[in-house]
Amino acid sequence: MSEQFATGPVGIIGGTGLTRLSGLVIEGEQQVVTNWGEPSDRLVKGRLGEQEVVFLARHGNPHRIPPHQVNYRANLQALYDAGVRTVVGVNAVGGIHRDMGPARVVIPDQLIDYTWGRASTFFEGELESTTHIDFTWPYCEDSRQLLVESARKAGVPFSDFGVYGATQGPRLETAAEIKRMERDGCDLVGMTGMPEAVLAAELGMRYSCLALVVNWAAGKTEAIITIDEIEAAIEQGMTGVKRILEQSVAD
Ligand code: HPA
Repeated sequence: MSEQFATGPVGIIGGTGLTRLSGLVIEGEQQVVTNWGEPSDRLVKGRLGEQEVVFLARHGNPHRIPPHQVNYRANLQALYDAGVRTVVGVNAVGGIHRDMGPARVVIPDQLIDYTWGRASTFFEGELESTTHIDFTWPYCEDSRQLLVESARKAGVPFSDFGVYGATQGPRLETAAEIKRMERDGCDLVGMTGMPEAVLAAELGMRYSCLALVVNWAAGKTEAIITIDEIEAAIEQGMTGVKRILEQSVAD
């Protein structure tokens, strides 16, 4: 078993296209309430191979909570309270970088936050001191390298870098917005990467992201973005995502 993932249960937050983790031998489901309210769904506790896993469907199951209404604080707190200190967030994204087309798996190394109005910190209310956490590297490098190695071993094509641009949604972007994001240095665009990553950091958890590109970002092709194309890319790419997750806990 890998060093990094060996300490306690690994939390997997499944996004669009991953509301259940096949392969997970379920040992129990738990409905919990945190200081920050209810998480998106029950915590599904089980084993992936030898590894203890706590799975949480970010949008609920069935998929019903839009990205701007996810209670990210409750989700992270619920995982933390369940003993999770290592989290992998699985995110469906649009591809901006030319190598990051539909069905491509990407393990990003940076992010830019364009979201607004979301509850994005645990540090509010009556505080004894002000806290500014370091967020230079938003993703845990050890976890990222483990995912990279696992993707290699699983034989799944992937990119081991990328800047994730987190947008507010729930609408998709305009072509001009994507051009601006590209100028900013974004390689991917998604709606759920933040504040999830920073909240994990505030709790001192190791957080990494496994992104699946499900469409070319707006204006990257002549065509508009359709649900059919997104579903086809999920169908094509999610098997690879699951293989990487399984591999990451198998060693
Ligand atoms: N933009 C934002 N979020 C997304 C996209 C997109 O094109 N595809 C999947 N999630």
